[in-house]
Amino acid sequence: MKTLRTAVIGLGRIGWHFHVPQIVRHDGFELVAVVDPLQERLDEARSEFGTKGYASHIDLLEGEDLDLVVIASPTPFHVEHAVAAFERGCNVFCDKPMAPSLEEADCMIASMEEHGRKLMIYQPHRAGADVVALQEILRQDLIGPVYMMKRTWSLYRRRDDWQAFRKYGGGMLNNFGVHHIDELLYLCQSRARRVTCAMRAVASLGDAEDAVKVVIETENGAILDVDLNEAAAHRMTPWHILGQRGSIVLDEGEQAWRVRFFRPEELPEGTTHEELAAPGRRYPSMADIPWREETWPLSDFQPIDFYQKCYEYFALDGPPFVPIAESRELMRVLDACRQDAAK
Ligand SMILES: NC(=O)c1ccc[n+]([C@@H]2O[C@H](COP(=O)([O-])OP(=O)(O)OC[C@H]3O[C@@H](n4cnc5c(N)ncnc54)[C@H](O)[C@@H]3O)[C@@H](O)[C@H]2O)c1
Repeated sequence: MKTLRTAVIGLGRIGWHFHVPQIVRHDGFELVAVVDPLQERLDEARSEFGTKGYASHIDLLEGEDLDLVVIASPTPFHVEHAVAAFERGCNVFCDKPMAPSLEEADCMIASMEEHGRKLMIYQPHRAGADVVALQEILRQDLIGPVYMMKRTWSLYRRRDDWQAFRKYGGGMLNNFGVHHIDELLYLCQSRARRVTCAMRAVASLGDAEDAVKVVIETENGAILDVDLNEAAAHRMTPWHILGQRGSIVLDEGEQAWRVRFFRPEELPEGTTHEELAAPGRRYPSMADIPWREETWPLSDFQPIDFYQKCYEYFALDGPPFVPIAESRELMRVLDACRQDAAK
């Protein structure tokens, strides 16, 4: 089995709690070294995994012969770290968001192309059991053509870390927008045609947005309605998928999708009344829709093993689970959000 000599840059929440253990767990990766400016984090990595530590990415790239660099440093460093890795002949697996802006994302892609390397962005929400199950329900065409998808991230917290600040690429667009807008574009399999966005900084202790409303019309005709809100005292419904013949919601308590739909062949014939006096002063009945209900437990679906997908792409030349063109489209949509919100 081919082993990818791998290093992780950034030993924070995602680097230490996700990337390092995933790399150590998978036989196709060898954790050769880690980078962090905090010495105690390097010491922790050495004592737990016997891994060499470096205080900077430059020292790492000069000191080691690597196949893959995993970037889990704060967002403003992603481009600098990726470009340095490409220049040393390494492939890059970079955490989201790819970069703080479309312009910087394009620099990363240009460097990847110039050096003939591979790049994939970690978009974990594509791999969750909820999205895997939802793809299957949509494939069965129970609810007919999807005209709208509503997705919400909501809670109330006073953000106080670097992600609360615009100068560090913080804010809800780069933080959760990257997840949820990507999820919806992925489910729709379409690019964005029109983007509108409004945002505010409400509960955050920094200056970056923590309440965001995004509406995207896709090239294939769906409306994507996304709320990213960390200033919401009541929880908002996380998912609602609306189709011509039904809709799908997530039952968070049961951890299951609930599908309500009708079969077109079971729908009674409808008649219209165009005279300008509604017959019998009645409103159209809602009782004549022959609704069917289905429950799809998430436990019936397996989440996708992201590091296995990484291995297939970086080691075995399989197709990328997250193609870079789709990551670039996401960056373009986020840029359009920022531009529209600033109007
Ligand atoms: N995919 C996900 O679900 C997910 C979740 C969390 C974070 N992230 C992303 O991962 C990145 C890191 O976020 P986090 O929450 O782990 O941050 P964090 O603040 O918890 O950790 C950042 C780490 O990087 C180190 N660091 C700082 N400057 C550095 C530099 N110049 N070179 C190398 N290391 C440096 C810090 O010492 C710290 O250990 C961000 O881009 C964030 O958006 C992704």
